[in-house]
Amino acid sequence: MEVGRLINYSPERYLESMMALRTAYGRDQRDRDPAYYQYFVAKVPDSALCEPGTDLRVLGIGSGSGDVDSAILKKLLQRHNSVYNRVVEPSGEMIERYKTRVREDTSLGAVNFDWRQQTAEEYVQTKDDTKFHLIHAVHVLYHVEDLDATLRNMWEQLADGGYMFITIKSDACYAFEGKDAGGKLYYKLWEKFGKGDRLKTSLRTSVDVEQWLDARGISYDVTSEDVAALNIDISECFNEKSEAGMKILDFLTQTPHVSNMPEIRAMTLEHMQCNSSMVNGKRLYKVESEDIVAFKKCE
Ligand SMILES: C[S@@+](CC[C@H](N)C(=O)[O-])C[C@H]1O[C@@H](n2cnc3c(N)ncnc32)[C@H](O)[C@@H]1O
Repeated sequence: MEVGRLINYSPERYLESMMALRTAYGRDQRDRDPAYYQYFVAKVPDSALCEPGTDLRVLGIGSGSGDVDSAILKKLLQRHNSVYNRVVEPSGEMIERYKTRVREDTSLGAVNFDWRQQTAEEYVQTKDDTKFHLIHAVHVLYHVEDLDATLRNMWEQLADGGYMFITIKSDACYAFEGKDAGGKLYYKLWEKFGKGDRLKTSLRTSVDVEQWLDARGISYDVTSEDVAALNIDISECFNEKSEAGMKILDFLTQTPHVSNMPEIRAMTLEHMQCNSSMVNGKRLYKVESEDIVAFKKCE
């Protein structure tokens, strides 16, 4: 059984499902919503991150089409004359979208991009000892093969005085309404259908990252704000004939072809029904994330 292993089963199915999900939460609208990007921008420290006259170095893991990255880079350019930005992203399609964005947005002209079409695991094999002042992984740590090794590598590549910034699905329930913020579905699926080590699948949440940092005595700040939540239109998931609905279901469970697994499908739909709300005729399922910022003290 492939519970939680969508990307391992088929990177193509993963990408198709991700695109269906983007449509279901209105990514195009979101692209025009400055509040979402401002939220990430606010996480970037206001102070300069390196000595004047030196290049600021940024590493993005799983940058996708660069929507969040470019907002972060623009803030950094307010304090730094030039930025070296290494992009580690396995999908050629996503990198092309990111490059188009860069070509069209002249305000990113002072950024020197270093494109690496690789997974985080392949990238580590290149054994480069560059240190970065900012390393971020926004909604990507579900998909790396080895969470522990990826976090270790990210931390090792961070310069003293640098920041590591991670966004990942929250394991909590959202305030006031007490509904699943996204992560509880993962745990429910795993409890009933999972086999082996959950951390070897994509069913990971903020608590897994926090435990990793706690075990190493690394201090960090956690925030979670409504503006960064995704309100996903799951109406189509209840229509077995809807191709888009089935892909969204796959993405939300990180499991390939859930429509062919009646037990998993029934449990997921029941959970989503109880944890969603009807708004203007659409069934909306809210997924919240946590943002974890760790600072590497100078030794
Ligand atoms: C949900 S998207 C997030 C994209 C972007 N960070 C954002 O917030 O818009 C996850 C991204 O991680 C990439 N990815 C998947 N597996 C990866 C891996 N093993 N290493 C690095 N990136 C990976 C995917 O191609 C995808 O672009």
